[in-house]
Amino acid sequence: HESKELLLSLPREKGWGHPYFYSYQDIWYSPGLIQAIISFQNHFQSKESDIIITSLPKSGTTWLKALTFAIVNRNRFSPSQQNHPLLTSNVHDLVPFFEVNYYGNNQIPNLSNLPEPRLFGTHVPFNSLPDSIMKSKCKIIYICRNPFDHFVSFWIFINKVIPSSMPKLSREEAFERYSNGVTEFGPFWIHMLRYWRGSKVMPNKVMFLTYEDLKGDINFFLKRMAEFLGIPFNSDEESNGVIESIIELCSFEKMKELEVNKNGKFLQKYENKHFFRKGEVGDWVNHFSPWMEEKLSKVIEDKLGGSGLSF
Ligand code: A3P
Repeated sequence: HESKELLLSLPREKGWGHPYFYSYQDIWYSPGLIQAIISFQNHFQSKESDIIITSLPKSGTTWLKALTFAIVNRNRFSPSQQNHPLLTSNVHDLVPFFEVNYYGNNQIPNLSNLPEPRLFGTHVPFNSLPDSIMKSKCKIIYICRNPFDHFVSFWIFINKVIPSSMPKLSREEAFERYSNGVTEFGPFWIHMLRYWRGSKVMPNKVMFLTYEDLKGDINFFLKRMAEFLGIPFNSDEESNGVIESIIELCSFEKMKELEVNKNGKFLQKYENKHFFRKGEVGDWVNHFSPWMEEKLSKVIEDKLGGSGLSF
């Protein structure tokens, strides 16, 4: 368990989905996660071939993990084969999260024997990644999302998975906390900006994507991802429709309808179906009132203005 002293020494705020969030290295976390992150920082040994999918929760993590898994394993598993692992497994089991699957619950796993390249996921912000990751030549792909849609996806998800003992958050209450940066792994602007700057300083190490990029031109970004990972599609693959097969395999419509995603659970806690809601850009217009739109626009301008990052 997280030591009581550690938690008592950290600033705290009312959380959502959890009674309190605690601030560690400028980011808000629910109890339990901080110890896992410290353990991840202290024990993880990176390899040059590692590929790490990083994101803010509810930004397109599930999609990016699936795309990366399909690209990396395309010679082992043809993206058009009937028994592709992505058709029978939850992608979060294929590409586990450091902080919940591996280092959660005081575990210190031995990951050295996993087949290479090892694929991992994490929501840990750039500046809190283990030194071992920063020093190795491993690759990081980050995804975030327009804060308007991000808020809607976050709010609806949390209310679906919140323990029944906790009151659901009204839209206004959730919005207030989101705008103040108080979300799991928030403030969103710090999380985004740290990876954004990382991608500028280390373009060969960090690839920065948005959900809107992928929705806008998946074909283009899929090729860029493969190039970034050092495994570009060759001309045979291009003419044989491998890219199109990966896009189809990882599409929202396809993944949402899989048996494992309709009925399975992740971490014995979250129903997989909650990871597939609408899968659209611009759904925020159905959930925002004019004052919310004005307020979030201002937050974005204040926090991201001048950074070069825009949505
Ligand atoms: P919505 O709530 O707007 O529908 P994460 O994977 O980081 O938890 O993000 C979840 C969001 O990504 C949800 O957005 C979800 O519907 C969407 N999503 C999940 N799988 C997707 C896919 N294969 N393609 C596009 N969007 C997907």
